[in-house]
Amino acid sequence: MIQMYRVSKKIHNTTVLEDVNLHVGKGEFVLLVGPSGAGKSTLLRLLHFDDRPTEGWIRVGEYSSSALKDRQIPLLRRKIGIIFQDFKLLKDRNIFENVAFALRVTGTRKSLTKRKALQTLTAVGLAHRRDAMPNQLSGGEQQRVSIARALVNDPFVLLADEPLGDLDKEASSNILELLKEINHRGTTVVMATHDEDLAAHMPYRCIRIENGRIL
Ligand SMILES: Nc1ncnc2c1ncn2[C@@H]1O[C@H](COP(=O)(O)OP(=O)(O)OP(=O)(O)O)[C@@H](O)[C@H]1O
Ligand SMILES: [Mg+2]
Repeated sequence: MIQMYRVSKKIHNTTVLEDVNLHVGKGEFVLLVGPSGAGKSTLLRLLHFDDRPTEGWIRVGEYSSSALKDRQIPLLRRKIGIIFQDFKLLKDRNIFENVAFALRVTGTRKSLTKRKALQTLTAVGLAHRRDAMPNQLSGGEQQRVSIARALVNDPFVLLADEPLGDLDKEASSNILELLKEINHRGTTVVMATHDEDLAAHMPYRCIRIENGRIL
């Protein structure tokens, strides 16, 4: 499902990832664990094709970085959901619009957009806040909106970058349950975390990364 082969990534002449090999099977839930600055976000951005590797190749589903044309990237991104470390919600649009926007850009019909956006907001328990603006929500609620936005296009892969951020225990466990459910429905999940303790208590495979290298 996901494969990285000898991937290196340089940013401004600094090597951020070096010789990364990794394989994630269809339907798997894996944790990408490593300290701050290890390269977790960089790796996820490469899997979302927000960025291209400096060396090596990446395959996600049927798409390979070596064969991918620039014009195919928007299409591919719709099939790979991503939850960013800092949410990246549109501040000037309400919750409903934040989720609906992800469908509109794909040219989805208005009626279907409304139905799917509400359905997804319901799934994350936020349909009742659909008219609220992002800054009126708590961190945990904003994170759930960003999950809804990542899921509304029915992605086959979900990339989650520190989705528990600095949420309290209850909010974290709600988000975690949500991710597990998504995985149970067949979506491959890759979740980045610096939280060793959390990783140790989860029944999932851990991929460890440090200084841009997989251990
Ligand atoms: N745009 C950039 N320009 C220069 N250096 C960068 C850039 N983005 C990332 N880096 C560097 O690459 C390294 C890896 O960064 P990355 O954000 O992938 O780490 P991370 O594992 O996600 O850390 P965190 O847990 O703090 O989010 C860091 O040393 C960072 O300073
Ligand atoms: Mg990061």
